[in-house]
Amino acid sequence: MSYPKGMPMAIKRAKGATVEDVDGNLYIDFFGGAGVMNVGHSNPAVVRAAAEQLGELTHALDFPTPSRQRLVDILSKLLPQEIGRVSFGGPTGSDAVESAIKLAKYNTKRIPVIAFEGSYHGMTAGALSVTSARSFREAFLPLVPEVHFVPYAYCYRCPFKRIPDSCDLECAQYLDHILEDPHSGVGTPAAVIVEPIQGEGGSIVPPEGYIPKIREICDRHEVIMIADEVQAGFCRTGKMFSFQHTNTVPDIVTMSKALGGIGLPISAIAYKERLNTWPAGKHIGTFRGNVMAYAAGAAALDFMVTTNLAEHVQRLGEFVLSSLKELERDSKIVGEARGKGLMLGVELVKDKDTKEPAPELARSVRAGCHRRGLLIEVGGHYNNVARFLPPLVLTEELAKRGLEVFLDSVKEAEGSL
Ligand SMILES: Cc1ncc(COP(=O)(O)O)c(C=O)c1O
Repeated sequence: MSYPKGMPMAIKRAKGATVEDVDGNLYIDFFGGAGVMNVGHSNPAVVRAAAEQLGELTHALDFPTPSRQRLVDILSKLLPQEIGRVSFGGPTGSDAVESAIKLAKYNTKRIPVIAFEGSYHGMTAGALSVTSARSFREAFLPLVPEVHFVPYAYCYRCPFKRIPDSCDLECAQYLDHILEDPHSGVGTPAAVIVEPIQGEGGSIVPPEGYIPKIREICDRHEVIMIADEVQAGFCRTGKMFSFQHTNTVPDIVTMSKALGGIGLPISAIAYKERLNTWPAGKHIGTFRGNVMAYAAGAAALDFMVTTNLAEHVQRLGEFVLSSLKELERDSKIVGEARGKGLMLGVELVKDKDTKEPAPELARSVRAGCHRRGLLIEVGGHYNNVARFLPPLVLTEELAKRGLEVFLDSVKEAEGSL
C-alpha cells in the first residue's frame, strides 16, 4: 500500500466529489483517485451504461463491439482530425505509454527517446524509463537504454536561472541544441514524450510558447511528438485535452485514467494515420480494451460534452487558483501556487527566498487535511507540492469548504515551524 500511508483510511463508498470511509467519516475529495474520477464517483449515467454492458457482454479481446465503436466514434470527434486513429492498450496509463513508444520506434527504426525532468509516465519498464524520479528508478537500473532527459519549463526552479516572460525559452532551446549538435552524445530519437502540463512533477504549467516550440523542434528534426494526456486529459485542465491549450497537434496522444469513466481500467493511444504502419498482431494482449470501460467511457465523454464540464472546470479552477494565489502572498511556507483548471499545486518551502523544499510540511498539510475531512495528494520534484485533482463535478460550495480546510492545515503547518 502507498496511498493509505498518507491518508490512513479504508474506503466504503463515494459519490460525486465526496468519499466515505468504513468508520462513517465523510471527506471532500480533492484527490479524485489520482485524477481518474473526472465525472464524479458513481456518476449515475456512467454507472447505468456500465451496468447495462455488464449484463450484455464483458470480454471480447480486440474484436469490434458496438460499445468499442461508440467510444472510438466519440473520441475521434473530440480529437483533432489529424490524430483520428485510435488503438486500445492494456488497462493502465503505463500501457498506453509503452504502446506509444513502441509505435514511434517501429515507425522510425530508432531507439533513443527524449523525456523531461519532472516527468511521470508510469511504472512498467518502458514507462519507468521515461519517468524522471530517482526514487522510482534507482533499484531497477539499467532500464530501457537510450533515454535522455531534458529540462522542462519549471519556471519556479528554472535550471537556467531565467525569469519567466523575459526568457527566451532556453529550456526548449536546449532540446534543439542536443538534437542539432552532432557531439551532443544523443542520437536522433524516435520520439519526444512530454506532458503538456506536468502532473506528478508538481502541477507545472509551462509558459505559452513552450509546447509549440517543442512541436516545432520535433518537426524540424523529424522526431515523433508524444503528448501524455493520461492525467491532464478529459477536461482536467479546462479543455478536453491539455495540448488543446497550445494550438499544437501531437503525433501520438496517450490516454487512460478518466477514460474509463468511473475508474474502469482502460487505456488508448490516438495517432496520425501515417504512423499506422504496423501490421495486425504487432502489439497484442488479452486485456487490450475492456468492454465495460468502453461503455462507461462513452457515457462519461457524453456527460463531459453535454454538461460542458470543461467550462465549469475553467471557471471553478480560476476561482480556486485565485484563493491559492492569495495564500501564496500571505503564507510564509507557500512558495508558489499554480496549475490549470482543476489540476492545481501548492509548492511548500521552508523559506521563500531560498526556496528550500519542505516535503515534511507537505506531508503534514496532507495529514492535517485528512484529519479535517479533505483528501489531497503530494507530489513534485521534492515531494513538497500539495496537489489537487478533484472530481471535476466539484461544486463551488464544496470547493470553498475544501479550501477552508486546506488553509487551516497550511496555517497549522506554518505554526509548527
Ligand atoms: C502523465 C501520466 N502518464 C502515465 C501514468 C501512468 O498511469 P498508470 O498509473 O495508470 O499506469 C500516469 C499516472 O499517474 C500519469 O500521470
